[in-house]
Amino acid sequence: MNKRLFHFFTKDHRRVEELLDNATRNPGEIDMEYYNRFRKGLLTHIKMEEKTLFPAAQKANGNVPLPIMARLRLEHGAITALMVPPPTDSLIKVLRYVLDKHDIAEEEPGGMYDICESLTQHQTDELLEKLHNVTEAPLHPVNPAPIALEAAKRALIRAGYDYDVLAT
Ligand SMILES: [Fe+2]
Ligand SMILES: [Fe+2]
Repeated sequence: MNKRLFHFFTKDHRRVEELLDNATRNPGEIDMEYYNRFRKGLLTHIKMEEKTLFPAAQKANGNVPLPIMARLRLEHGAITALMVPPPTDSLIKVLRYVLDKHDIAEEEPGGMYDICESLTQHQTDELLEKLHNVTEAPLHPVNPAPIALEAAKRALIRAGYDYDVLAT
């Protein structure tokens, strides 16, 4: 197996990380042009997993959800909620921590991508075509209302992370 899905998704992880690195290159300021490209890239990546990869893997698994899916979905919810408030140093710190853990769970040997790859090995071409044709996720302006950050904190708690602990 030449792990084409694995390479497709891990390459996308690196592309999105690079956008975040560029957004935060100068200490004390966040480049919103890069940050918005990062948000769009990350939300589109999550869309590819939630709408195409995970359902295909579950279907190939006899419609039985994979054990790791519930955790990854909660993390997608938390990461998506973190894309709503305006970025701060604290928010970026928390985001990087959760993203690192999440990407490892997907990329590590025997992780989500390996499992999906082997379950869907007879439909890799079809899946890659679908993935290349996914439309970009819509990007809304950041929301400075305190409720947006509170919602992100609650989504993190559901996924097993404490914003205030991770931010310090
Ligand atoms: Fe993911
Ligand atoms: Fe991913």
